[in-house]
Amino acid sequence: MKPVISISMLSADFAHVGRDLKAAEAAGVDWIHVDVMDGHFVPNITIGPDQMKNFRSSVSIPFDVHLMISHPLSYIDAFAEGGADSITVHVECEDDTDACLSKIKSHGIKAGVVISPDTPVTAVEPYLDGIDMILVMSVYPGFGGQSYLPQSSERLKAVKTLIGKRPIRLEVDGGINFDTLPDALAAGADTIVSGSCLFRGNIKNNVDQFRTIIDSHTK
Ligand code: DX5
Ligand code: ZN
Repeated sequence: MKPVISISMLSADFAHVGRDLKAAEAAGVDWIHVDVMDGHFVPNITIGPDQMKNFRSSVSIPFDVHLMISHPLSYIDAFAEGGADSITVHVECEDDTDACLSKIKSHGIKAGVVISPDTPVTAVEPYLDGIDMILVMSVYPGFGGQSYLPQSSERLKAVKTLIGKRPIRLEVDGGINFDTLPDALAAGADTIVSGSCLFRGNIKNNVDQFRTIIDSHTK
């Protein structure tokens, strides 16, 4: 599975999102990670599908939409129509996960499930045969700039084992920086979300450094 860097727009300058996403694309990131929060599933509020649609056209790389909302089912159509290329939903949400996955797939885009740090990894098992990706949260969802939870590497390894040979991406999200990236890669992550580390300072240098670390792990 080709490694992917998905930059979290949560750490972009929201007065200049289009500019920052263009800079990210030019720096060589593969995907834009869009963190959607509703102030209910998590104690923070970010953006809805209309806002996403507004800056979707600023770049041509895929949009990886992470729904941290209690009722994703009612919003999947709008995010898909707004330009999402993949959508992930938390297994802890209040809607039926299978119904969410079917709705995502009805748009012909990639579908995945997310598990928060306190959710047993076995919660992904019922979905393994119908999904494109599994996102393992390495922080409690809600805010950028948190520290990588040390138990995340063992959790990634356990999910990797459950995935087996299935063509499912293993995404890690939260606290990924130059120090924690090697551990996440060693644990099997192939899809790397990072916000605060990549957006801090020179984005091109940061992405290059990520790529060097990734290359040294995939040789
Ligand atoms: C947290 C979000 C993450 C977060 C990543 O709820 O899902 O995508 O923004 O940001 P950093 O890389 O700063 O931990
Ligand atoms: Zn996220």
